[in-house]
Amino acid sequence: MARVLVTRRLPDGGIDPLVEAGHELVTNDEDQPFTHAQLCAAVTDVDAVVCLLTDRVDDAVFAAGGDRLKVVANVAVGYDNIDVGAATAAGVAVCNTPGVLDETTADLAFLLVLAASRLASTAEADLRSGRWHGWGINQYLGRDVHGATLGVIGYGRIGQAVARRATGFGMDVLHHTRHDTGVPGWTDDLDDLLARSDAVTLHVPLNDETRHLIDARRLALMKPTAVLVNTARGPVVDEDALAAALEADQIFAAGIDVYEREPEVHPRLLAAPRTVLLPHVGSASTQTRTRMAQLACEGVVAVLAGKRPPNLVYAG
Ligand code: DGY
Repeated sequence: MARVLVTRRLPDGGIDPLVEAGHELVTNDEDQPFTHAQLCAAVTDVDAVVCLLTDRVDDAVFAAGGDRLKVVANVAVGYDNIDVGAATAAGVAVCNTPGVLDETTADLAFLLVLAASRLASTAEADLRSGRWHGWGINQYLGRDVHGATLGVIGYGRIGQAVARRATGFGMDVLHHTRHDTGVPGWTDDLDDLLARSDAVTLHVPLNDETRHLIDARRLALMKPTAVLVNTARGPVVDEDALAAALEADQIFAAGIDVYEREPEVHPRLLAAPRTVLLPHVGSASTQTRTRMAQLACEGVVAVLAGKRPPNLVYAG
C-alpha cells in the first residue's frame, strides 16, 4: 500500500481507482488549491501526487518529495503546470488525462464560435441590465457561422472534434499543423490560414513555440469580420494585443475560456467589446471531470504497480 496525495477535492467517484487499489489517501478536503508552500509541505512523505492545473509542480516540489515520490498525475490533458524537465531530473513519472475530454472541450469551443459570432454575451448583458428596449432590425448583428470558414490551429484530438462539429454546421474547415495530416484543408502556413478564416480556434499545447502564437502581427492578418476562440491555454494569445484588436475593430469578436494569468483576467480584455469570456470550463461536465480524475488516478495506480500506463507523459 502506498500513500497518495490528492491536492484538491475531486468529483465524486474520481478517486475510486486509488481506493480500489487500497492506497492510503492524503487529501485536501477544501475546494481550494494548496499554496505552493502547502504543496511542498504536503508532498514530503507520499509516493504519488494527483494534482490539478492550479498546482505549480516544479523543482521545489520534486525536492520536497525526495526519493519516495514516484509519480505525479495531472487531472488535465495540458501539463504546462508541471516542470517535466525537473520531473525527469528527479526520476518522477508524469501522467495526464488525454482522450477523455476531447468531445466536451470541443462542445465548448464550438459554443464559443457560435456565441462570439452571434454576439450572445453582449446581447444578454444588455437584456439583463435593462438596456434592451425592444426588437430592432439593426441590433446585435453578428456573423453567420454556416457557410463560413473555420481555421483550426492544432489538429490533435480536440481540434479534430471541433472540425467535425464545424462540418455539421455547414462550415468549410482549414487546419494548421507543422506536419501534413493528409486531411483536406491542411496548411503549413499559419499566416495564410489566419487571413482566410472567418473563425479561428486554437488547440495547441502551451510551450515555448506556442507562447503568444497569436500576437499583434497575426491578429492584424485576420479578417475584420473574423472571430478568435481560445480554449487551449491563455498564454497562446497575447491578451493585450487581442484587447487592442477588438477595441480597434481589427477583428469582429472573441470567445475566450483561458487566460494568461488565471484566475486574473486582463482588465483591458474584460472591458473589450464583443467578447464572450468564460472561466476555464472547457472540460467542465460531470461525466468528463469524473473520468479525468479517474484516469489520472489509474495512471498513479499503474505506475505504483510497476506498470506503464497509457496516459504516461514521461516515464520517470
Ligand atoms: C486540460 O485538461 O488541460 C483542460 O484545460 C482542463 O479542462
